[in-house]
Amino acid sequence: MRIGLAGVGRIGAFHTETLKALDDVDELVVTDADVAVGRGVAERLGVGWADTPQELLGLGLDGFVVAAATNAHASLLRAGLEAGVPTFCEKPVAGTLAESIELAKLAASVDVPVHVGFQRRFDAGYQRAAEVVRTGALGFLHTLRAVTGDEAPPHAAYIPTSGGIFRDCNVHDFDIIRFVTGHEVVSVFATGSNRGEAFFGQAGDVDTAAAVLTLDDGTLAQVSSTRYNGAGHDVRLEVVGSAGSVAVGLDDSLALTSAEPGVTFPPGPVHHSFMDRFLPAYRAELTAFADVARGLRPSPCTVADALEAFRVAEACDVSRREGRVVRLDEVESL
Ligand SMILES: NC(=O)c1ccc[n+]([C@@H]2O[C@H](COP(=O)([O-])OP(=O)(O)OC[C@H]3O[C@@H](n4cnc5c(N)ncnc54)[C@H](O)[C@@H]3O)[C@@H](O)[C@H]2O)c1
Repeated sequence: MRIGLAGVGRIGAFHTETLKALDDVDELVVTDADVAVGRGVAERLGVGWADTPQELLGLGLDGFVVAAATNAHASLLRAGLEAGVPTFCEKPVAGTLAESIELAKLAASVDVPVHVGFQRRFDAGYQRAAEVVRTGALGFLHTLRAVTGDEAPPHAAYIPTSGGIFRDCNVHDFDIIRFVTGHEVVSVFATGSNRGEAFFGQAGDVDTAAAVLTLDDGTLAQVSSTRYNGAGHDVRLEVVGSAGSVAVGLDDSLALTSAEPGVTFPPGPVHHSFMDRFLPAYRAELTAFADVARGLRPSPCTVADALEAFRVAEACDVSRREGRVVRLDEVESL
């Protein structure tokens, strides 16, 4: 297969290496708005280079991967769909709710598959949690606790185009809560704070956030995130029911130590970034995308799915800014 990729920053360069290692991928060509940096990455990784996304799509691709900055997703995804090329798009699917809705409508109107990059859906722990919930072994669910902690913030220029912590970071939690429980969020209350670098506040964002979500079956989900989890990259989910509970991410590399005397778990080494925490999941999702692009399976995460997670993020952002509970039916939908 000939795959094209737009945006070779942190995740784009990482995805390029993952794609290179896939048996199905014969040729890989990349582009980036920053030509000097992009060309350098292409040379370092030994892949082809195109000066623009238009030139890239003109090569006759079997699949297109959008890994550029969030505010470039909408135009790149639209270009992929208009060229009729199966497209993988990093989360979130767009920078704004209006664009996300527009893209969901466009994706539904064309016969070109889109796979949105929520890699937790391919993580063994989250998959196992979803299976256990489906068996009913946990009884009735009443509480979820989701944690996403980055060890250190991204570069300062990332924040103004990221959409803010709920759309950029917790959107993963919102998607996986839907995936694990099979239920929708009906209301949120969210808050946030800034105790780190000034660039978060200057972009209207927060570096640490918390939200309480109520699901349509009454389950409560507490969601917590920070850009300053000094102990390492910490991503977890606890699912608690009347008959039992399971935890995702409670593994040997957990970035948390016990204050209890004599407890030495976890043995480490801790995860330091999303790349080492989710390496097998990223491989699995891009392998799945190759199958999606060849028409062997439907998209495992559609633009409509991504829109639902985005709507929860939107509600949290409004809630944080206005200091009130926001119902999801206040947020525009398809
Ligand atoms: N799934 C995940 O776990 C995960 C992790 C990190 C980032 N992401 C997502 O991936 C995207 C990129 O994040 P990042 O951390 O790599 O950011 P980054 O800032 O490191 O890289 C972004 C790259 O996109 C390029 N770019 C910007 N506009 C472009 C355009 N119109 N065409 C081509 N290239 C363009 C920039 O020059 C830069 O090289 C974001 O949307 C982010 O939300 C997802």
